[in-house]
Amino acid sequence: MNVSRFGKKIATTSGIGRLMEDLGNALSQNTDMLMLGGGNPAHIPDVQKYFRDSMENLLQDNLAFEKAIGNYDPPQGNIEFIEAMSRLLRKEFGWDITPKNIALTNGSQSAFFILFNIFGGAYQDGTEKKIMFPLAPEYIGYSDVGISEDLFVSIEPLISHEDEHIFKYHIDFENLNIDETIGAICVSRPTNPTGNVLTDKEIEKLNELAAANKIPLIIDNAYGMPFPDIIFTQAKLTWNENMILCLSLSKLGLPAVRTGIIIANEEVIDMVAKVNAVMSLAPGGIGPAIATDLIRTGKIINLSRDIIKPFYFNKVQAALIQAIHELDGINFHIHKPEGTFFLWLWFPDLPITDTELYERLKKRNVLVVPGNYFFPGLKKKWPHKNQCIRLNYSQDSETFSKGIKIIAEEVKSL
Ligand SMILES: Cc1ncc(COP(=O)(O)O)c(C=O)c1O
Repeated sequence: MNVSRFGKKIATTSGIGRLMEDLGNALSQNTDMLMLGGGNPAHIPDVQKYFRDSMENLLQDNLAFEKAIGNYDPPQGNIEFIEAMSRLLRKEFGWDITPKNIALTNGSQSAFFILFNIFGGAYQDGTEKKIMFPLAPEYIGYSDVGISEDLFVSIEPLISHEDEHIFKYHIDFENLNIDETIGAICVSRPTNPTGNVLTDKEIEKLNELAAANKIPLIIDNAYGMPFPDIIFTQAKLTWNENMILCLSLSKLGLPAVRTGIIIANEEVIDMVAKVNAVMSLAPGGIGPAIATDLIRTGKIINLSRDIIKPFYFNKVQAALIQAIHELDGINFHIHKPEGTFFLWLWFPDLPITDTELYERLKKRNVLVVPGNYFFPGLKKKWPHKNQCIRLNYSQDSETFSKGIKIIAEEVKSL
């Protein structure tokens, strides 16, 4: 079939497409697979009860269900949800925002497709601009969303060692060049895959750099505050007219409703709404129908702070202790888990590539994600890219225990 360059790229090289397919096939062919790959949040019964209650209220209300499924929302997204969100953010953070500063998308993944192609690619004056990821590793889902070729750039991070086995990546500001070829800066905070939470100082510096260059700073807050609040360290959440903050209902426990939330200045929100209209007429309304009351009443904050955060905090402590115990005898480092539900393992002496390790583990019924997928825009050859794997510890602890034992055995056997 004759397709555009974008079509060809998606058909032949889409990393996330290939990986999602591979993980899906491996799981469907073998139900005994230990799933430490993928990005699903845990099914937390106390959290699911809130969603079930919301759904039951919706069904029992005289017309609410029919309204939720029977009407298109405006391209900007469900008005009641947006108004509730605007009030919540004003109250929680004191930000000067109105509903005109918020748009919904079908999952935040769609938000990144829209934003990266608005700020990156060919401009009307004939110039081409790129999206800068100032910290690698960075979220795999960004990799293939550019309609134009080569949309992303990134730089190697600085590495600090907190102790024998715990390390942390930092932005190398000395080598971070923001010039007229950059259309926007983007970071995930907390970062998928590493669990890094960029410090307030790093965010402040990025904000200054973006403002000085009159480009937006996009912050992917899929795991951050005020929900789902999977952050185990102190961090301030800020917003200003030059920042684009992306939130999501997914990691709260609602990935299937596909609701992403963009907070930005009115001009950006207007553009996002117009792209929504072109791409899908309107964002879906089921997520807002389930979550609006949780937002209006502020329960979404309690849910996140009192149930979700402690749930993952307990899990990460156990996973970390177990990983350090099992991997004893190997040269390994784990990224300081400051947020998300991933552990990022680095084996500096790995004699094979991360992909080969992934394949070997798959044969032993353990699914992980090879680290090399998480370096969008970093072209430079760097052995580190092939020395890491990402583990999801959000599922039941038995799965993690068995999985990490096998990973340790496999790496020791090399
Ligand atoms: C850092 C990050 N951003 C964005 C997304 C996309 O989430 P969704 O499209 O479900 O909102 C994910 C999903 O795994 C993620 O990890």
